Amino acid sequence: MAFEKFRLNGKTALITGASGLLGIQHAAALLECGANVILTDINDSALQSAEATLSHQFDAANILVKMMDVTDPDSIRSVYDDLVSDSIHVDVLVNNAAIDPKVKGEQGVLETSRLENFHLDQWNLQVAVGLTGAFLCSQVFGTAMARKRKGGVIVNIASDLSVFSPDQRLYRKEGLTEDMQPVKPITYSVIKAGLIGMTRYLATYWADKGVRCNALSPGGVFNGQSEEFVQRLSNLIPLGRMASREEYRSAIQFLCSDASSYLNGQNIVMDGGRSVL
Ligand SMILES: NC(=O)c1ccc[n+]([C@@H]2O[C@H](COP(=O)([O-])OP(=O)(O)OC[C@H]3O[C@@H](n4cnc5c(N)ncnc54)[C@H](O)[C@@H]3O)[C@@H](O)[C@H]2O)c1
Repeated sequence: MAFEKFRLNGKTALITGASGLLGIQHAAALLECGANVILTDINDSALQSAEATLSHQFDAANILVKMMDVTDPDSIRSVYDDLVSDSIHVDVLVNNAAIDPKVKGEQGVLETSRLENFHLDQWNLQVAVGLTGAFLCSQVFGTAMARKRKGGVIVNIASDLSVFSPDQRLYRKEGLTEDMQPVKPITYSVIKAGLIGMTRYLATYWADKGVRCNALSPGGVFNGQSEEFVQRLSNLIPLGRMASREEYRSAIQFLCSDASSYLNGQNIVMDGGRSVL
């Protein structure tokens, strides 16, 4: 059967940052394939509303919600222990949590997104969530997958900025001097490129235990950004538009299932062709 390998019935997938814009889409993608999903996040109310939204479309019995801070080893361990005590084994881990600082730019306010002004505490926080968090979750859930010897899948959500530098012209604001112009901060590029290194490392580390690891690098998702920004970005994309939030679902289904059983250590860049220009 053509789509048999996409089936995830009997498998459990844990998603970090699951109540955000894309996290809920990853969950829906996996539920569509028959998986049980564990939605994890630090935002309690958003988690509850993600669960409610998904329960309208899918069997609520297949959805579990857990508060989990990916920067805190104790928080991850406590979720792991809870799952073990309920005899739940995680077959698929989606490292999706990140902080995507909104690029603003205001007259008369020091522009802290710029390299010259970027605060060390912002660097530390963003790296802790986007990069260290993926390491800590992979350490706990990947180790369990390897020990179980039933195989497993880790998918790291990177970004098209894992393969090219931000085009800072996208974020320019009229009327601001050069030193006040907002930029995509350095952390985003560093974290996403780092995730690709982690993906390659993990892909070989547990390969003999049947644990695969790949990365998905999405391009920008339309989410009500200003018309000016959307136009600027669309001009850089051969397909001439941003992605819709649902457009990565099929890639998640492919990467998390046996449909990609011979894919390991790769970075799937879904960017409307931007990176090949
Ligand atoms: N939206 C896009 O255009 C886009 C494009 C490329 C890549 N991405 C990547 O996709 C992923 C999801 O992005 P999104 O747009 O859904 O972002 P989002 O901000 O909507 O969601 C991120 C989620 O991570 C959670 N989070 C933050 N800190 C956490 C922590 N310490 N522990 C656990 N969870 C934490 C937040 O509460 C939030 O729910 C990110 O890795 C992002 O970099 C997004």
